[in-house]
Amino acid sequence: MNDPERLDRALEELLHDRSPRGVGESLDGEEQRMLRVAQLLRGSRPADPDGEFVEALHARLFPAPARVSRRTAFLGGLGALAAGVLAGVGIDRFASESRSATTWTPLVGANGRWVPVATVADLPHGTIKAFRAGHVQGFLINRHGEIRALSGVCTHMGCLLEFKQSDQAFVCPCHGAEFSISGEAYQGPHHYNIRLSPLPEIRVRRSGESIEVWSV
Ligand code: FES
Repeated sequence: MNDPERLDRALEELLHDRSPRGVGESLDGEEQRMLRVAQLLRGSRPADPDGEFVEALHARLFPAPARVSRRTAFLGGLGALAAGVLAGVGIDRFASESRSATTWTPLVGANGRWVPVATVADLPHGTIKAFRAGHVQGFLINRHGEIRALSGVCTHMGCLLEFKQSDQAFVCPCHGAEFSISGEAYQGPHHYNIRLSPLPEIRVRRSGESIEVWSV
């Protein structure tokens, strides 16, 4: 079957919260891969995508010419993926779902800038505070006066983590991974059964009364 609109139809189904299975079965390998990414993104939290950045990311993810003619509808969900990539989740991981060939990209390279995300008063000892700075999302953590910042993006497939106070853990709403406050993935019979990379560190500094992170 050679129908250039079939991927569009599958994405339409997805965007309307309907199963794309019927259409999806007719897709070729690359189209199925794109549909899987789209499904992944639908499962992620919306992240106020920046249009220009997401367009650039889309071009890197899907270099094949105009496979998705209704790109704008699809791109709405790519903001979460954008955050994931910048938070250290390699594009290769998203594209191939390979667990052994992950390509880790630097969190933010030399082209970053310091972005204020909190004040010292916001972050007394014991506090864990979510932040968003440009395309980077994460958590500020104050333990005994030492302030760290960790990526808030799951290292499995890029969903945004939530902090669960009762467990003192970062929990992934997508497939249940949990990370400790130090960023290590919990393992064991009651946790996610795939060895996941720890949450990447984000550079953080105190500048006067302001807490700043290195972001883009
Ligand atoms: Fe799968 Fe987080 S994205 S466990």
